[in-house]
Amino acid sequence: MQEQIKKLFAARKEIYENLAELRIDTGQNTPEKAVKLIIAYLQGKGELQYFYNNRLNQIEDVLVDLGNNSYHIYIGPGILKQLANYLQKMAPDAGQKIFLITNPTVKNLYGREITAALLTGSYRIIWGEIPDREEAKSLNEAARLYDLAFARGVERRTPVVALGGGVVGDLAGFVAATYLRGLPLIQIPTTLLAQVDSSIGGKVAVNHPGGKNIIGSFYQPKLVLIDISVLNTLDRRELVAGLAEVIKYGVIADAEFFSWLEENLPKVLALEPQALIHAISTSCRIKAGVVQKDEREEGLRAILNFGHTIGHALEALTKYQAYRHGEAVAVGMATAANLAVHTGLLAAGEAERLKKLLGQAGLPTDLPPSISGEDLIRAMQRDKKVQLGEIAFVLPVKIGQVEIKRRPSAKWRELIKKACRI
Ligand SMILES: NC(=O)c1ccc[n+]([C@@H]2O[C@H](COP(=O)([O-])OP(=O)(O)OC[C@H]3O[C@@H](n4cnc5c(N)ncnc54)[C@H](O)[C@@H]3O)[C@@H](O)[C@H]2O)c1
Repeated sequence: MQEQIKKLFAARKEIYENLAELRIDTGQNTPEKAVKLIIAYLQGKGELQYFYNNRLNQIEDVLVDLGNNSYHIYIGPGILKQLANYLQKMAPDAGQKIFLITNPTVKNLYGREITAALLTGSYRIIWGEIPDREEAKSLNEAARLYDLAFARGVERRTPVVALGGGVVGDLAGFVAATYLRGLPLIQIPTTLLAQVDSSIGGKVAVNHPGGKNIIGSFYQPKLVLIDISVLNTLDRRELVAGLAEVIKYGVIADAEFFSWLEENLPKVLALEPQALIHAISTSCRIKAGVVQKDEREEGLRAILNFGHTIGHALEALTKYQAYRHGEAVAVGMATAANLAVHTGLLAAGEAERLKKLLGQAGLPTDLPPSISGEDLIRAMQRDKKVQLGEIAFVLPVKIGQVEIKRRPSAKWRELIKKACRI
């Protein structure tokens, strides 16, 4: 009899798995014991392993493996609607508060959907709204959110949900890291840049009048939820800017992914779900892999800055007005590739492939004529990541592999100037 049940189960396993939205690991328990465990879990009295049916919902699951600070990134369509399910583990009690930080643009687009999704779990939302601009990443705005948290009785276990682009994510993360010495943080990134970059890896910060991201910390989220559907409302320019980071991952770590992008970029730009999920999950996996090896940027993590040394200088020189961050990074990557060709590290054909792909995405690759190589070098030397006067460059040696080169800037001056004028 038992053998027959086992056989039947094996034959039907796939159907069972595809049918259920949620699977619970009941171990070897009897049905009665399993039900008791589930009830205890729902009352917040016990632990339970459960899995969402990722195949049914086309949800990708990327683990960021950081020991006690590990977390999952779920990527797919319609995740916002499932928010209460995902929150359940962190906030199991009915009526529990959620401190939801967002901006008016995102609230207008998704506030109603979020409210409806959280009603199913009877959560109470404390809305923390911040202005929709980079200047919101300030100590003043953080203080305003602390006041709100205090007035509304936010407690140690109240989850902070960051719903928005990188600005919301960085500020909400900073508040979560500091209020009551740390609240559980959930990132729900809504721009492509935030989905593939800023929501993962735990860098949280606010700006200082002296520079961007000067005041901050490493504070990992407990969960990252990426709903690809929200990209439908994103401005085209923002989407394309985010693609610069996606292309970056191919160059720094994955030649196969780069080739896939060369083939499939039009599908990504057309927001085809399968292509988007692949592009975003591969990017997240690559970032997670790097962060796992070097959480606090003591070495390897610097490869994520490919294109950023020049990109940051370009943003600063144009007073953060002319370029979106991703666009400046695209020019930075193209210029760094030129530099790698001049130093004999990279074959010219590989640099051309990169520039072609960036161009196809609609990203710039050339420095504006108004900015000289000399301007750029001066701006790079002011970058907070410059150590002992040396500019660290992440240079590709081939598509899929980069090296970090630290050289006295004097020796590199001429090469950099040459690289700027291709
Ligand atoms: N922490 C990190 O590791 C890290 C990494 C990279 C960048 N950053 C930071 O990220 C910030 C930039 O983030 P960003 O590029 O996401 O910009 P952003 O947060 O300013 O968002 C861009 C615009 O898109 C709007 N928006 C967001 N989601 C939308 C949606 N789904 N539909 C329509 N509009 C939407 C926003 O309201 C905003 O106007 C910078 O402050 C940068 O320093 C942080």
